[in-house]
Amino acid sequence: MIKKGIILAAGTGSRLSPLTKSINKQLLPIYDKPLIFYPLSILMQNDIKNILIIVNKGQVDQFKKILPIKNNLGIKIQYKEQIKPAGLPDAFLIGKNFIKNDNVVLILGDNFFYSRNIRKTYFKNIKFKNGANILLCPVKKPQLYGVAKINKKNKVLEMIEKPKNPKSNLAITGLYIFDKNVVNYSKLLKPSKRNELEIIDLLKIYQKKGELTAKKINKDVNWLDAGSVKDLSLASQLVKNVEKIKGKKIGCLEEIALKNKWI
Ligand code: DAU
Repeated sequence: MIKKGIILAAGTGSRLSPLTKSINKQLLPIYDKPLIFYPLSILMQNDIKNILIIVNKGQVDQFKKILPIKNNLGIKIQYKEQIKPAGLPDAFLIGKNFIKNDNVVLILGDNFFYSRNIRKTYFKNIKFKNGANILLCPVKKPQLYGVAKINKKNKVLEMIEKPKNPKSNLAITGLYIFDKNVVNYSKLLKPSKRNELEIIDLLKIYQKKGELTAKKINKDVNWLDAGSVKDLSLASQLVKNVEKIKGKKIGCLEEIALKNKWI
């Protein structure tokens, strides 16, 4: 059972400039809600109520204005600031007092997942005890993402961040599960050439220990990295279509809290 989740919602948002020049990417709209509502809803749908949101320096108040505070909606949100974009594993150094000795899910603040039942398609199917787990999605342009090559038994053979010549079409999505060792392993990492701690380097530590598992995303799950203008707009269209045509809500935090009987 995983009870804690981190949403990494800092970063420069350079691919979305000038939209992100004065506003955090995760506060931009996906149809009728801020982007951050969607990764938060994925955590809530999976019964994760204890959440740490990492934002850029000076932005906590902006997030507090739009997100439930105190015990609203039955969830507990804490905030931490990231001083500079030092890479994804920095989340575990910033969040070490939050993680303590527990397993933790990391979801990137710009990752958009939609499925009629993401709980059934991901968390619920994973009997996670220890190690790390990644969720893989077939994509048309793997060179834009971290890419994993796996064998028929879903064993991870190779992982490369944004490869020029990808050996597989499986992108590593921004939804990861880690055990409590993630903090100590993150401390071992050295910044890469682009001066960031790399998530792939962290995953490789687990891989070397034989503790990395992977799962391919089910066909009914839509995944978008809404950090680009094209996918931000695609995600908006998807939400609009589902909400208008099918009359279903996506990313509606209050609806999930009610369904979970938290309020
Ligand atoms: O979306 C999935 C991809 O996310 C993975 O396939 C890649 O392996 C992974 O490196 C990452 O690649 P991106 O190029 O999309 O990462 P980006 O720099 O856009 O950051 C992703 C999110 O994390 C974004 O919401 C900003 C936030 N972030 C990023 C960094 C580097 C932070 O909050 N702090 C940081 O230091």
